[in-house]
Amino acid sequence: MFRTHTCGELRLANVGEEVILTGWVQRLRDKGGMLWIDLRDRYGITQLSLDEGITATELMQQARSLGREFVIQATGKVIERHSKNDKIPTGDIELQVTKIEVLNPAKLPPFLIEDETDGGDDLRMRYRYLDLRRTPVRRNLELRHRMMRETRNYLDGLNFIEVETPYLIKSTPEGARDFVVPSRMNAGEFYALPQSPQTFKQLLMVSGFDKYFQIVKCFRDEDLRADRQPEFTQIDCEMSFVQQEDILNTFEGFIKHLFAQVKDVNIEKLPRMTYADAMRLYGSDKPDTRFGMQFVELNPLVKNKGFKVFDDAELVVGICAEGAASYTRKQLDELIDFVKRPQIGATGLVYARVNEDGSVKSSVDKFYSPEDLQEWANALNAKPGDLILILAGGADKTRKALNELRLEMGTRLGLRDKNVFSPLWVVDFPLLEWDEEAQRYHAMHHPFTSPKPEDLHLIESNPGAIRANAYDMVINGVEVGGGSIRIYDRTLQSQMFSLLGFTKEEAEAQFGFLMNAFEYGAPPHGGIAFGFDRLCSLFGGSDSIRDYIAFPKNNSGRDVMIDAPAPISEAQLDELHINMKNLPKG
Ligand code: AMO
Repeated sequence: MFRTHTCGELRLANVGEEVILTGWVQRLRDKGGMLWIDLRDRYGITQLSLDEGITATELMQQARSLGREFVIQATGKVIERHSKNDKIPTGDIELQVTKIEVLNPAKLPPFLIEDETDGGDDLRMRYRYLDLRRTPVRRNLELRHRMMRETRNYLDGLNFIEVETPYLIKSTPEGARDFVVPSRMNAGEFYALPQSPQTFKQLLMVSGFDKYFQIVKCFRDEDLRADRQPEFTQIDCEMSFVQQEDILNTFEGFIKHLFAQVKDVNIEKLPRMTYADAMRLYGSDKPDTRFGMQFVELNPLVKNKGFKVFDDAELVVGICAEGAASYTRKQLDELIDFVKRPQIGATGLVYARVNEDGSVKSSVDKFYSPEDLQEWANALNAKPGDLILILAGGADKTRKALNELRLEMGTRLGLRDKNVFSPLWVVDFPLLEWDEEAQRYHAMHHPFTSPKPEDLHLIESNPGAIRANAYDMVINGVEVGGGSIRIYDRTLQSQMFSLLGFTKEEAEAQFGFLMNAFEYGAPPHGGIAFGFDRLCSLFGGSDSIRDYIAFPKNNSGRDVMIDAPAPISEAQLDELHINMKNLPKG
């Protein structure tokens, strides 16, 4: 028998028992006559003790020769500790060692394998298997496992069936860039890895599966950020004979279940906000509603007083930062620098302080009378001690910039507590999005999303104003999921493709299989997909989804541990009919 117990298991009740433990040597403390070893496995740490008065000399010597991360088997008797450690569950006992077997020695690890480590990001990524030994990193994966288990429990309980769909599919031009895979057997042809199982889950509805889900890898060749990986996991779901309301209710139940089971957090009914309101009040389709600080549009109050910046602006819009009137000149300058950063792109920032006596002092006092400023304060519901921050310019750009400033102020004022969860539905997304560069419409969600029937009459006159039966779930400013009610009628689907600039032939070549299927009795259907990694990082209280992925890619899309992507041999290339002669050298 390798072991009788794990390193997280022994308690006072086991005192007197002869046991065998296995694990990694985390730390060795040698006090001359006494020697202690922290032995670690997935379940915890148990202290091994060796005492010169009791332990054989050879065993003492053998123990002294152990290095960090050696894999050992230790036999001994459980005894009560003299000085107890209340920080770990096994802290009342220790193992009085009678025998040690080295199962495998280890090289000195390149960084400390403890809760606080000295290893930088790159080093830890290169030795990810060592980083995964650290308790905080392991806990993240344990959380992921529990989330996965509860997801399956909830959906299985509602009669959803998990069906796998293929990873080698066909490239389509919609959405992000595809990762492609050359075909050996079909010279010059390529598979693409799925960006999502969207069309397959719709086909499963045509097949009559009614309620489908899949915890599934998706692949998107897009620029990476903290909340984006080139391969990530979705909880992908689809239902037949449903309307938007049914989907929202089913998946509101899902998120409540996850919060209750995994975090012991009780979530009330999810509020719903239209896309139009989200943009107007927060300048974002994924508002962080843990705090207020809603936008107030000031155009009628500020125009025609001689201040050119406001007079020329399409939109003048402000927020009220509670209690921030005491901000120093230096802090205000930081905010000005913040909004002027190229990523934010505002040309400047107007501010006004509401003093303790109720008077208002602004950075543009020479254009506005005390009464004018009072009106601003009223409009923004600003009280003594508050700071008003105002941006002006083109409407879309200004909203976007003020969204960033609002989030920054939320962070500075401590309003974005990681232990507070504020989920909501954003509904009524526009169906289409105008692409300036390409001079054409894109589907805002995807081309299979159905328009709201009451907006269909706009299809010729003002397609940009058509709203979709599309919805996102947003938690704390993160888009954790999105979906829609689908088109299930061939004629409407081909109308949609032509609106998106596809010729009949292109639509047929790329999506003919789906439109054909619609002619064989397609039920009304709709669904949603959650970003599983994002849900995990949100539940775990981290901004980066990498922490919740066992073997993630870095920001250049590389796996630095296995060193991928990598060149392949000439022979492999030939077999795949790929000619690399035109590639730049180096
Ligand atoms: P969508 O493209 O909105 O919808 O994706 C669903 C959710 O997946 C997550 N997500 C990502 N997570 C990590 N890294 C990425 N690169 C990444 N891209 C997206 C987000 C997002 O909300 N087929 C549709 C769903 C449907 O209509 O049912 C789809 O894929 O949390």
